[in-house]
Amino acid sequence: MKIGDRDFRSIWAEEDGERVGIIDQTKLPHELKIVHLTNMEETATAISDMWVRGAPLIGATAAYGMAFALRKDPSDAGLAEAYDILHATRPTAINLRWALDAVRQRIGALPESERAEAAWALAEEICDEDVETNRRIGQNGLKLIEAIARDKKPGEPVNVLTHCNAGWLATVDWGTATSPIYLAHEKGIPVHVYVDETRPRNQGAGLTAWELANHGVDHTLVVDNAGGHLMQHGKVDLCIVGSDRTTALGDVCNKIGTYLKALAARDNGVPFYAALPASTIDWTVRNGVAEIPIEERAGEEVSHIIGINDSGTVERVRISPEATPVSNYAFDVTPARLVSGLITERGVCNASEAGLSELFPEYAKKRA
Ligand code: MRU
Repeated sequence: MKIGDRDFRSIWAEEDGERVGIIDQTKLPHELKIVHLTNMEETATAISDMWVRGAPLIGATAAYGMAFALRKDPSDAGLAEAYDILHATRPTAINLRWALDAVRQRIGALPESERAEAAWALAEEICDEDVETNRRIGQNGLKLIEAIARDKKPGEPVNVLTHCNAGWLATVDWGTATSPIYLAHEKGIPVHVYVDETRPRNQGAGLTAWELANHGVDHTLVVDNAGGHLMQHGKVDLCIVGSDRTTALGDVCNKIGTYLKALAARDNGVPFYAALPASTIDWTVRNGVAEIPIEERAGEEVSHIIGINDSGTVERVRISPEATPVSNYAFDVTPARLVSGLITERGVCNASEAGLSELFPEYAKKRA
């Protein structure tokens, strides 16, 4: 998508074939810092320290991490070691395992002399596929926005609430939750986005708001606790969130606080959708609450906050008493019964085993 008048992806291979460019997302929205990754260790750090984040982008970055590792050591042992290191970087987003499995299966079958080059090509393929997948998610989700614009809000903006950043920065391009929004905007459908700030790391305030502003999409930043109030007052027509892992029964694991938005949406009759690619579906998990590992991150993400002061200096300040204990669960699970539907690259389906099996019969068959 656009930064100024320049088209960007969130990750790209440089022409030298040696380096992978990323945007250090920990610096946004105050600084656009491009970083070049040159080896597997840096790639692992980029994921665990969240220079890159968002389920699909984590997967795409990890694929390049495998390619870097295979340049150094293309043996089976090298492959296995890189897999384990990269897999340990973030536990919840399943796209990480999906991408690592794809590299292990396809590249592990090749002779050692061919592995590094083939892994690099596969990482590029994963990135290109992600862009196309998200564009399709956008086309499918666009129909929901179009229907509201036509039937409920003719001539008025459609108000979409989103949580965290499931935008182009969380994928290679387009985003998942934002893709229908960008397409509606491009089609001239008036759309306005309520952006949850998304404490503790503020991916809404720092990333989603930044993306939408750069692309010229009308939006308003709200505190995380505002969603229920906005919905009670008819200010939200549709919620669209992303997903870090969706179960075979349609439970949606996403950034902490998503569940509360779904509860408020249900109480107020607001449709609540999750937008996700097939690579986010974990067909091995049925009950999301019981089975999905929820990442717990450093307490300092909660007790401290980063911002820019009036002199233009980026500062980190503590907002709680020094001795106060902190817990920091990064994700929660929204049960399928609260999800109006899943927007995927193949279409929109019910958040249920039957809905998912209809869209993805080949996976359903494999599990049976
Ligand atoms: O911790 P993060 O920033 O990686 O969490 C990101 C989210 O929760 C997104 O909503 C999710 O990855 C969907 S990505 C399109």
